[in-house]
Amino acid sequence: MSEHAHQHHDEDAAEMFEPHAWEERYSGDEKIWSGHPNAQLVAEVSGLTPGTALDVGCGEGGDVIWLAQQGWTVTGADFSANGLARAAQHADDAGVADRTDWWQVDARNFAAEGRSFDLVTTHFLHPPDGGMVEVTGRLAEAVAPGGHLLVVGHAPSEVFTQLSSSHHRAMFVAADLVPGLPDGFELLVVEQRPRTMVREGVTVDVHDSTLLARRTA
Ligand SMILES: C[S@@+](CC[C@H](N)C(=O)[O-])C[C@H]1O[C@@H](n2cnc3c(N)ncnc32)[C@H](O)[C@@H]1O
Repeated sequence: MSEHAHQHHDEDAAEMFEPHAWEERYSGDEKIWSGHPNAQLVAEVSGLTPGTALDVGCGEGGDVIWLAQQGWTVTGADFSANGLARAAQHADDAGVADRTDWWQVDARNFAAEGRSFDLVTTHFLHPPDGGMVEVTGRLAEAVAPGGHLLVVGHAPSEVFTQLSSSHHRAMFVAADLVPGLPDGFELLVVEQRPRTMVREGVTVDVHDSTLLARRTA
């Protein structure tokens, strides 16, 4: 492929991080995600006392529904209106609509607007160009004193070699995010956790970059 073609490929890939691309993905009938809660969410949150939670980049709402079923009152946030509509329908189907509400927001300019939550969580949001560091700082501002922030994403891996360089720049290890945290947070987990996933019909080994921090002040 020529350098020019590479550039186009990357520009196309960069578009995939924008809301209209996600609106399109969520516009059909086909469910995209499993509906099962994410592994690191279950691992870290099962032991916490339920309170209020915010899930940013909630997609079709699998994590929101699981949290609501554990007794949390949950706000699901995403920049895709279609994604949020699907999530709300799934929450209704699961009988937890009364424990959920929805917030259309772009994490890249997220502002807590005076709201705070006992748990702020985000899984596989992957803003482009290393943007997760700033997003981590923005989401941290929404954590109530004594509350937790859980940020999970894909660690760079050979499994993803066929993806564009834009996608690779969107991946991170947990330690990359630490500089984005404001003062007053205690680090509880900063690591890459092994997990098997099915990708295009093939079972592969990946690592979930996992940051868990608690607001102390
Ligand atoms: C890979 S999906 C993950 C969905 C869900 N968290 C899960 O793990 O099943 C990423 C989700 O983040 C949303 N998203 C991506 N970038 C975003 C941004 N900058 N602000 C808000 N939502 C975003 C997309 O619309 C999509 O629903």
